Amino acid sequence: MARCFVTRPLPGGSLDRLAAEHEVDLWPQHLPPPPEALREHAARADGLLCLLTDRVDADLIAACPRLRVISNFAVGCDNVDLAAVRARVIALGYTPDVLTETTADLAVALILAIARRLPEGMAAVRAGQWQRWDPGWMLGSDVHGATLGIVGLGRIGRAVAHRARGFDMEVLHTSRRGGVPLEDLLAGADFVSLHCPLTPQTRHLIAAPQLQAMKPTAYLINTARGGVVDQAALETALREGWIAGAALDVTEPEPLPTDHPLLGAPNLIVLPHVGSATRATRARMADLAVDNLLAGLAGRPLPREYGAP
Ligand code: GLV
Repeated sequence: MARCFVTRPLPGGSLDRLAAEHEVDLWPQHLPPPPEALREHAARADGLLCLLTDRVDADLIAACPRLRVISNFAVGCDNVDLAAVRARVIALGYTPDVLTETTADLAVALILAIARRLPEGMAAVRAGQWQRWDPGWMLGSDVHGATLGIVGLGRIGRAVAHRARGFDMEVLHTSRRGGVPLEDLLAGADFVSLHCPLTPQTRHLIAAPQLQAMKPTAYLINTARGGVVDQAALETALREGWIAGAALDVTEPEPLPTDHPLLGAPNLIVLPHVGSATRATRARMADLAVDNLLAGLAGRPLPREYGAP
């Protein structure tokens, strides 16, 4: 029997399967363990089941001599120091595929919401500002027939492209294996949707020059990671009208402090990182995260190991 530290209660009953085979030390709160607590609990563990909000850096890994497997409850693993994990030959599991369609749904929801001004319309109704049907009021942009630029044609990017075809959108993409140059995508797209992982190469991939290269009528959608966008540049872009709007499910940091300057920018939607947040998908993620942990502790290949082909 191994000892596992699980950094948050998870939806569904999958942790029962873990507890049936191993000793489970469960962080009972819905806020992340502070770094010292993460270190103290993980230091005694053979297996760690963590979330994207838990920073698993080289110092933490060095403090965990028994650690054999890390199971990240996320598809993105930018919270984990990959070099340190590889150096210690720790197996790293993650949760791709099970959240692809759900996250793609949210990207499309953001495209529609920012283009058709859904939050503004709702706020106006609530505030009693909707006085009459007016031919010139609350006008937005058409989504159907527009050009969608997908930055990073991986699983989620492809699922968004599939949905876009249902709206008769033209789809441009960049990817590691082809597509169009980023500059061409930025110049041609009415909606630029980000689907690349956050790596040292993609940090601030969308900064002032890229925002200036977009059409003034175009929108930026981010369901990837906040760090892919230079938020100070985005704030300027929105205030100065370089682009028409932005819809973000992810920011840096998360949550954004309520007095963060970006939140005061016009034509902006910010959601609390809910791309994969449906009951069914979160239960599937929990199942896969537990499957990864159980396999790693048993010395078997992980069903979904990060970086495996
Ligand atoms: C969510 O952002 C994830 O990486 O799963």
